[in-house]
Amino acid sequence: MNSLEISVRRTLSPKALPSSETLGFGKYFTDHMFLASYSTKKGWYDARITPYEPLPLDPGAAVLHYGQALFEGMKAFRHEDGKCVLFRPEFNWQRMCEGAERLCMVAPPKELFIEGIKALIKVDEAWVPKEKGCSLYIRPTLIGTEGFLGVRPSDEYIFFTILSPVSSYFGGGAKPVKIWVEQDYTRACPGGLGSTKAAANYAGSLKAATEAKKKNYAQVLWLDIQREYVEEVGTMNVFFVFDNEIVTPSLEGTILGGGIRNSVIELLKSMNKPVVERKVKLQEIRDGAASGRLKEVFGTGTAAVISPVGELAAKDWNIVINNNEVGPVSKKLYDELTGIQSGQLPDSKNWLLKI
Ligand SMILES: Cc1ncc(COP(=O)(O)O)c(C=O)c1O
Repeated sequence: MNSLEISVRRTLSPKALPSSETLGFGKYFTDHMFLASYSTKKGWYDARITPYEPLPLDPGAAVLHYGQALFEGMKAFRHEDGKCVLFRPEFNWQRMCEGAERLCMVAPPKELFIEGIKALIKVDEAWVPKEKGCSLYIRPTLIGTEGFLGVRPSDEYIFFTILSPVSSYFGGGAKPVKIWVEQDYTRACPGGLGSTKAAANYAGSLKAATEAKKKNYAQVLWLDIQREYVEEVGTMNVFFVFDNEIVTPSLEGTILGGGIRNSVIELLKSMNKPVVERKVKLQEIRDGAASGRLKEVFGTGTAAVISPVGELAAKDWNIVINNNEVGPVSKKLYDELTGIQSGQLPDSKNWLLKI
């Protein structure tokens, strides 16, 4: 695709906008979606905005049989002046490119990814909530669409993006979550897909999350395949605040490198806080809790931004963190990040892109 032309076919039956109190997360979709097609013969073609509608898909499509599916999660925010912005879209595009490389897929070029999303949000702009804490969640998705049976990379792809207005995870104030330390199932293994946002990773995670929820835990703490080191918490990266350092597991192929993780590290460095990326043993967390060295634990991710952890529990032990209260580091980072996203604080890192 040389210069990006996007055709627009508008819906003839726009939906009523949901009220901000009912939004929750991922329940509503906007009126339109963005799509672009790819084939090895034509390259990228037919960038288009259409009504939100079912996709025509060959029942033999690679995505349905061999799981060639990759997605992203990002957000747009409405500022007080009514203008809308994207938070770090290049980060998400870059991560999709890296994932596509691992899954032998063809990623959309940067212009197609970013301009397509911007054009879609312009069409559905009324759906970007203005209420405090609310935002527009963006789900860019890449799937292999060629119909064939035989395990090889698809020669055809669709890149599409759908939008969902969402409310703050912290509607009733940030409440620390209870987390189950998962020692049976693992999320990723060395040499696998863990560092990508492959749909397959989420299929593989459902069993552990479902069992944890039955036990009344919000999510699981994922460990490495030896069950010795800490990797992630649910669909978030994880940070530990010790007396003298703030630690997050280093990215060594099994962990998804989050945009919020990266932003938190940058913010902490700017605040001259001792933030370190290194391997973290589960035993170190337990020892830290016993000695009082462990002050806070929190998850980071696009949906919740910062999610404090109040309790970690395993089959035969549990620890309560910071008296089950939100700690000062979690609070400060939440305020900084949401302040930048909402335009209440200056965009000192140049993370916002105007739509
Ligand atoms: C497995 C996993 N880890 C970490 C994250 C956090 O990534 P980000 O900060 O880019 O949302 C996510 C969410 O996207 C995730 O699904």
